[in-house]
Amino acid sequence: MGDSMRHFLSEDDLSAAEFRQIIQRGSEFRREHESGTSEALLPRRTLGMIFEKSSTRTRVSFEVAMTQLGGHAIYLSPNDTQIGRGEPIEDTARVLSEMVDVISVRTFSHTALERFAAASQVPVINALTDLLHPCQMLADMQTFFDHSGDIGGKRVAWIGDGNNMCNSYINTARILGFELVIACPKGYEPDADLLARAGSYASCVATPEEACRGADLVVTDVWASMGQEAEQAERERAFSGYCVNMQLMQETADKALFMHCLPAHRGEEVEADVIDGPMSVVWAEAGNRLHAQKALLEFLLTQG
Ligand code: CP
Ligand code: NVA
Repeated sequence: MGDSMRHFLSEDDLSAAEFRQIIQRGSEFRREHESGTSEALLPRRTLGMIFEKSSTRTRVSFEVAMTQLGGHAIYLSPNDTQIGRGEPIEDTARVLSEMVDVISVRTFSHTALERFAAASQVPVINALTDLLHPCQMLADMQTFFDHSGDIGGKRVAWIGDGNNMCNSYINTARILGFELVIACPKGYEPDADLLARAGSYASCVATPEEACRGADLVVTDVWASMGQEAEQAERERAFSGYCVNMQLMQETADKALFMHCLPAHRGEEVEADVIDGPMSVVWAEAGNRLHAQKALLEFLLTQG
């Protein structure tokens, strides 16, 4: 890899133009997939995938993406690699860089991911940290563009926990130019620095009703993210009143969409009639993980 090597650790690793270019390319990949005309554009390339947390969508979408692009993906878990036995992350990054062409990492600490990337000689992709989930953002944005056109100038409501997905929405609002209105219980607000950086693109309001009023997209996520399982009961108490139900969805703009990165807990953060109803695009959103990440892999390995 030359000097032009790019990582994708945060939404900010892409310019607004590059973000839109990847979304558009993801839509092309989806259409090719649907018509059975996809090409193997990354023959013999290998993706190393480190997962220190569970995953269904991220793992399968990256693995299938590499297969369809003519390459290969290797799943690496701490249980059966030296990562779990304390080998320094910088050493792991250097070693993997000798062999694979690109590395995705799902871990807890965003700082640890940044240290890993600093030591890597090949592009590193954030496959979720406690701070951000930028690959999910690419799929969410592709899904919005596919259904409703460019998100610039639109209004998006975030309901629930100010977690990694909420932080990613804050960054993306600033980059793509939409208005993000956040309703979180006290004590569960998103990252204060990211919120400040977003300026007028993101703001917190007092109630879910206020956030949903006139929204073109309503998004939520689990109340307890991976690593917060012990807080489940306490969080259920704090988040009562933050369930996305049909009454809330009636506050939205005409043709509003509902998204959730999944996995979902029906009856907690969202009612079944919303997530399984006509405004929900969660299955397209999940499917777009494959297409958006193909566009990302192509970008990092051929243009980045
Ligand atoms: N949305 C998402 O990242 O799902 P997984 O945890 O299953 O990868
Ligand atoms: N906020 C959730 C997202 C899961 C894809 C978590 O971090 O567990």
